[in-house]
Amino acid sequence: MKTLIEPFRIKMVESIRQTTEKERIEILKKADYNPFCIKAEDILIDFLTDSGTGAMSDRQWAAMMTGDESYAGSKSFFRFEKAVQNITGFTHIIPTHQGRAAERILFSVAVKEGDKLPSNTHFDTTRANIEFNKAEAVDMVIPEGKIPTLEHPFKGNMDLDRLSDFLEKYHENVPIGMITITNNSGGGQPVSMENIRETGRLLHKYEIPFFIDACRFAENAYFIKLREPGYQSKNVLEIAQEIFSYADGCTMSAKKDAMVNIGGFLAMNDDTMAMNARNLLILTEGFPSYGGLAGRDLDALAVGLEEVLHEDYLKYRLRTAEYMGERLTEAGIDIIRPTGGHAVYIDAKAFYPNIPASQFPGQVLCAELYRKGGIRGVEIGSVMFGRKNPNTGEEIPAEMELVRLAFPRRVYTQSHFDFAIESIIETYGEREKAKGLKITWEPPFLRHFTAKFGLVD
Ligand code: F0G
Repeated sequence: MKTLIEPFRIKMVESIRQTTEKERIEILKKADYNPFCIKAEDILIDFLTDSGTGAMSDRQWAAMMTGDESYAGSKSFFRFEKAVQNITGFTHIIPTHQGRAAERILFSVAVKEGDKLPSNTHFDTTRANIEFNKAEAVDMVIPEGKIPTLEHPFKGNMDLDRLSDFLEKYHENVPIGMITITNNSGGGQPVSMENIRETGRLLHKYEIPFFIDACRFAENAYFIKLREPGYQSKNVLEIAQEIFSYADGCTMSAKKDAMVNIGGFLAMNDDTMAMNARNLLILTEGFPSYGGLAGRDLDALAVGLEEVLHEDYLKYRLRTAEYMGERLTEAGIDIIRPTGGHAVYIDAKAFYPNIPASQFPGQVLCAELYRKGGIRGVEIGSVMFGRKNPNTGEEIPAEMELVRLAFPRRVYTQSHFDFAIESIIETYGEREKAKGLKITWEPPFLRHFTAKFGLVD
């Protein structure tokens, strides 16, 4: 059969509200052209993030009813621990309320001022938590990973030559090496097993612990099955187990590939580091058997980790992004290619060649997608990553002007995607009419969340 169907049926529904274009123009004005400032009830299709926005299964909801809310040593914790250990094999499993809490604890116990942490690409919260500890986050993805339309099966790979040189020079200042799977900031691109293995080998040469940012580990494992020679006959669980076997620990936002609305964990083999991490956990997150979560959250997470490895699910998941990518590419719209696991990234610079970076083409595209179809995406360009020249105040643009449409798990159907595709293509047809934006107010940092914009005359 050619038609690939959603591998689930719907048991509970949530209404979404249609608005008129006229209403949306007003809503946009009131939100100062910043999608973060639009109320969710005014959004028709929300592609802002795939984080914590997924639909839980009937089995996950059933597991929540069995949650044990004991403060210490709850049954839920042991079910959670077993599920994580089955996949990762790590000795110490420490629950946290989400990914960045795991990052904060890890870097607080393992990183000191002046240290340097290499990765393919650190996610924003990872980078921010490293910098908060006065250390340096160093990105070294392969050069192919930075060219949007260049096809490569593993565009998230670490540049191993660069890593090798870097370690030779700085190994004494490198407390941890990391790799993000899939590489969210680089387009949701996967990392190959060979690259993960070699990254581990290079770090271990200097006895540096290797940690995986594992948010989307299942999507990455399925890409390996599809694309890397030798893995076609392995199941995704075996592939995931092999990935983690090369590492000494991981951080995880369970809001992604553990299919829950809140949760995360930090895992590792080192006893001393784990003891320090647990002590800090008690200080800020909670007792080590719940780490800021309810017992029922841990149960839902344990079931989610099992469900995410179902191949029917992963096939549908990866095909969703690929399908949208194909349709947009056919229509002449440039995207990061090939599509990654959780999102499609539109190249807004190519979409609006007449709008300069100083007028934020990515932000314009976000506003236009909302006006046309009630769709919400996120700008990943000069609003998010642009910097100001400290002397002149002039804007220094980001390397790329992208709009990410990230897909909540098991939430939208084929027709939602067809509708979104049609809206994007129609927006492209009206590209000549789009006006640039200027910032009218901005906060001192992380401006993309709250900045206000106005139309350029
Ligand atoms: N690492 C990666 C690769 C992520 O994508 C995220 C979150 C985190 C860590 C932090 O996890 O949100 O649970 O604290 N990414 C979300 C996104 C927010 O929209 O891409 P968290």
